[in-house]
Amino acid sequence: MAVQISPSILSADFARLADEAARIAEVADWLHVDVMDNHFVPNLTLGLPVVESLLKHATLPLDCHLMIEDPDRWAPEYAAAGARNVTIHAEAVHAPVRTLRAIRSAGARAGLAVNPGTPVEPYHDLLPEVDMLLLMTVEPGFGGQHFLDLVLPKLRRARELIGRHGGAVWLQVDGGVSHETIERCADAGADVFVAGSAVYDSDDPAGVVQALRAQAEHATAHAAWAAGNVPGRPG
Ligand code: DX5
Ligand code: ZN
Repeated sequence: MAVQISPSILSADFARLADEAARIAEVADWLHVDVMDNHFVPNLTLGLPVVESLLKHATLPLDCHLMIEDPDRWAPEYAAAGARNVTIHAEAVHAPVRTLRAIRSAGARAGLAVNPGTPVEPYHDLLPEVDMLLLMTVEPGFGGQHFLDLVLPKLRRARELIGRHGGAVWLQVDGGVSHETIERCADAGADVFVAGSAVYDSDDPAGVVQALRAQAEHATAHAAWAAGNVPGRPG
C-alpha cells in the first residue's frame, strides 16, 4: 500500500494540456482527467477525442473520472482507448457489474465513485468488481471547492469495508485536497489523492505534488488503519 498522487488537469490550461501534463510527469503517479457532460454535473469539459490526443502525449497513465450521464455506453471506450483507470459514478451507472467488467476486459482498472451524499455500504458486494473506490469530497462538477469534512467518517467506513473484503482495492479522494486537508484524508484511510487547484494554481506544480506526497506518507505512517501494513509497526 503506497501513497499515490493524481493531479487533476481540470485546473490546468486546457489549451496547453500536453505541456501541463509534462510539468508533473516526473513526480506524480497518475494524470487525473475529469470528463463532464453537462448532464450528470453542471459543467462541460472534454471527451474521448481529447483523451485520445492526450494519450499520445502524456507519459503518466491516465486516471479518467467520468462524470457523465451514460457511463455504461462510454466507459469501455475510454478503457479501449488506453486509459489505465476508468472511474464511473454509482449514481449514474445502470448496470455496474457489466460496465465494471467491460472496463477491465478492455484492459483498464475499474473505479467506482460515490458523491458526498451517497452511502458506500450498498456497494460492498461490488468490491470484487472494483480496483478503486472514489469518495468525492466535494459535490462533483468544479475545481477549487472547499473540502467536505463530512465525508471523513464515510472514508473510515470505506477503509473498513475494503479491509474486510481483503482485496487490493485502492481508496481515492477527490475534491478540495490540499496541504490543509490531505493529512485528514490519509489518516481516515485514503491512499490515492486527486488534487487539481492545489497543484495547477501553483507556480510550482511539481513541488506541490512532492509536498502533498510527503504529507500523506507521514500521515499514513501514523494512521491506525495502516498500522498492520507498515513495516516495523505493531499490527
Ligand atoms: C471535481 C473533479 C475534481 C477536481 C478537483 O468534480 O472531479 O477532480 O479537479 O479539483 P480541486 O482539487 O481543485 O478540488
Ligand atoms: Zn475528478
